[in-house]
Amino acid sequence: MAVIFPRWTNSIPLAIGLAGPIVLGSVVFAIWYWGSPKFTDVGYAPTQPVPFSHQLHAGAMAMDCRYCHNAVERGAGSAVPPTATCMNCHSKVLTDSPRLAKVRESWETGKAVEWVRVHMLPDYAFFNHSVHLAAGVGCASCHGRIDQMAVVAQAEPLSMGWCLECHRNPAPHIRPPDVSVTDMEWEPDFSKVDANPPSRTGGRPVVPPEHCSGCHR
Ligand code: HEC
Ligand code: HEC
Ligand code: HEC
Ligand code: HEC
Ligand code: HEC
Repeated sequence: MAVIFPRWTNSIPLAIGLAGPIVLGSVVFAIWYWGSPKFTDVGYAPTQPVPFSHQLHAGAMAMDCRYCHNAVERGAGSAVPPTATCMNCHSKVLTDSPRLAKVRESWETGKAVEWVRVHMLPDYAFFNHSVHLAAGVGCASCHGRIDQMAVVAQAEPLSMGWCLECHRNPAPHIRPPDVSVTDMEWEPDFSKVDANPPSRTGGRPVVPPEHCSGCHR
């Protein structure tokens, strides 16, 4: 009998059987990996347990960001405020609003409100608020116009490329000493080009790290 298929072709079905799931798996992984919020998270605006509005509190009422986010300048974190901060006012204002029921419940039980985290870097990237604020980079450069948001949405990608874009030329974002880092109206001047501008206190030059170990420690 003539040999139509050489002997090695016997293994083709097996190879397809093995490779198929691997290829399919890779495609699924790629879609999951590149399509996951890590890469598309600009605009991420989860629904919060309490309909707290920055537009009202930080915008219309013009409260300073640090009244609630008072840890930003000191530490690496900048945790969301405890219920006690809300109760400074809401023990007197809108005391029976159903929209504040979870805040009152938290106050009575001592259990924190379960705010959903909006901005989050992976563990392998190091970030510290206080250094940026001390250098004169304002909240709006990284978080956008929070004072106009009824629901907080992520304004910037927080990707490595985004961090580096500013680190290579921070000058446009360095505010003059008389402008607060929490001022939401101030606009960066993108015509400025200076990789190491003087720090806003007039002292040493600002030198944001561009080497890997600066952010991956
Ligand atoms: C009255 C208190 C209060 C004030 C004032 C306030 N915030 Fe907030 N902020 C909160 C609370 C509560 C949350 C969590 C719920 C949410 O995301 O809306 C939050 C969340 C945030 C987040 C998102 C945190 C995350 O999970 O990633 C950012 C960024 C933020 N605030 C920035 C600001 C800035 C900038 C200002 C000043 C313009 C400001 N906040 C003023 C209470 C406040
Ligand atoms: C400096 C005072 C003050 C602080 C601090 C404050 N609020 Fe308010 N909040 C107000 C006032 C005043 C209003 C009502 C504005 C209006 O409707 O006239 C309000 C309205 C609200 C509303 C809308 C309620 C409704 O029935 O429409 C929510 C929700 C709310 N605040 C949540 C919070 C949370 C959560 C915190 C803490 C992170 C907080 N507030 C901290 C003063 C404050
Ligand atoms: C240089 C960019 C930058 C500036 C300036 C900046 N932030 Fe952030 N912020 C971030 C990044 C990045 C994260 C996510 C941090 C993480 O996951 O470790 C974050 C997270 C937060 C969070 C989430 C909660 C937490 O504990 O991390 C809050 C609240 C916040 N920022 C408020 C502020 C406020 C208020 C200001 C101004 C006073 C400010 N940020 C200025 C980049 C910035
Ligand atoms: C808008 C400009 C800007 C953005 C965006 C920015 N940075 Fe920076 N970064 C600075 C400036 C300015 C300094 C201060 C350098 C100095 O004081 O010499 C700095 C300093 C640092 C430092 C060194 C200080 C320290 O704590 O050791 C680290 C690390 C850092 N940034 C990480 C990040 C990461 C991670 C991101 C992105 C998630 C980021 N930065 C986004 C401007 C920026
Ligand atoms: C200014 C801060 C900064 C510097 C400098 C930096 N990285 Fe990153 N890197 C980040 C951040 C932030 C992320 C997380 C990005 C994300 O979540 O999308 C990241 C992610 C990564 C990843 C994960 C893959 C990815 O793209 O998400 C690798 C690998 C990496 N960095 C390698 C490096 C190497 C190599 C260098 C030096 C040439 C370097 N990084 C320098 C901030 C930095």
